[in-house]
Amino acid sequence: MTIRPLVILPDNQLRLRSKPVETFDRALEKLVEDMFETMYDAPGIGLAAIQIGVPLRVVTMDLAPKDEPREPRIFVNPEIVSRSEAFACYEEGCLSIPDYYEDVERPDRVRVAYQDMKGARHELDADGLMATCIQHEIDHLNGVLFIDHISKLKRDRVVKKFVKQARRDGPAGAKPQHEAL
Ligand code: NI
Repeated sequence: MTIRPLVILPDNQLRLRSKPVETFDRALEKLVEDMFETMYDAPGIGLAAIQIGVPLRVVTMDLAPKDEPREPRIFVNPEIVSRSEAFACYEEGCLSIPDYYEDVERPDRVRVAYQDMKGARHELDADGLMATCIQHEIDHLNGVLFIDHISKLKRDRVVKKFVKQARRDGPAGAKPQHEAL
């Protein structure tokens, strides 16, 4: 297992639309292992593969409270099949936009279709933190960031800050390492 460098705003990879997983093989297992390793190290509660520079529709998640046993979850090719009309507001953050948090409104409940590591299909009803997290991660697979859901004024301000930071750190800063997949 390897902790991989995180792709950080304003890296354009974050705007890519990730491709569906078609082969459920050892390479996928390796990717997921690295994603968990990277996510737990950060630490974070959810990660999309593109955040380590791999444009595949894979999400890892663990919503277990700190000090409680881990509850790793894997969503391959996840898709929202229905959304509640009611909205809920949560303060969100993102490992690709470190140290920035803002309230985001999203549907309160969603039904998600996804595949497991063997390619079997499942559906899941999510509410609360799980609903927020899965919507945030599926957004990543479509090149959408949580800052796209806040006001343009706030978004411009945070993007500007990260552009400045990237310029200061130089291009060698957090370049993701690609592996063949
Ligand atoms: Ni994120």
